[in-house]
Amino acid sequence: MADITNIDKSKLPKHVAIIMDGNGRWAKQKGKLRIFGHQNGVQSVRDATEAATELGIQFLTLYAFSTENWNRPQSEVDALMELLVSTIHKEVNTLNKNQIKLAAIGDIKSLPKNCQAELADAIQQTSKNKRLTLVLALSYSSKWEIIKAVKEISEKVKSKELSVADINEDLFSNFLCTNKIPDPELLIRTSGELRISNFLLWQIAYSELYFTEKLWPDFRKEDFFDAILAYQNRERRFGKTSEQVKGN
Ligand code: FPP
Repeated sequence: MADITNIDKSKLPKHVAIIMDGNGRWAKQKGKLRIFGHQNGVQSVRDATEAATELGIQFLTLYAFSTENWNRPQSEVDALMELLVSTIHKEVNTLNKNQIKLAAIGDIKSLPKNCQAELADAIQQTSKNKRLTLVLALSYSSKWEIIKAVKEISEKVKSKELSVADINEDLFSNFLCTNKIPDPELLIRTSGELRISNFLLWQIAYSELYFTEKLWPDFRKEDFFDAILAYQNRERRFGKTSEQVKGN
């Protein structure tokens, strides 16, 4: 297992994104209700956030609730929303103490009113922090985000604020929820599932993917360091040959 001293601080990703998966299975293994897994997942959120802060990573995005998660049993959705509200409320002081800025992406207006209010309050209270930006993906899905961008661009073409010739990768990226955030160089998924599940599809075009068998509530700082170490051992070619990359 890696510890922080194994990591080359000059080769860090700026942005790490995580699909936190396996809370339900973790709880089931223990003969508990699914929400018990989500509750224990909060400590893993703390661990990943601390690890990213200690390393000096600038952005950490966590897939906390997908558009598709609304289809779960109402009792689980309600419990997850309550957990989000209480966790955000409890952690604001810690975020400020560690200079962490909170941000959110997704269809935030679809969240319950108390969740929106708690989130807006925490975002405002942490807005001046400069160390790590912790981005929560809430009621988020990549297809939703892309369709939203297409509609907004289409409206601007219709009103002649933009022409079709203006549309390129940079312009399109500016209409995504992540417009102020660099693309993640590393995407981690826990629980052994080998899927992207509608997360940051545009933004991960060239991300390194890292899958671990660990269920999210078991994910500790050392697991985060392991993922960073694996990333540092990859050769990122961006379509070039290995010889070209090494020659650069
Ligand atoms: C996936 O596990 C996890 C989620 C859908 C929710 C993640 C939420 C938390 C860790 C709670 C708090 C988060 C924050 C940011 C305060 P799953 O339920 O899909 O697990 P399974 O695949 O084993 O069923």
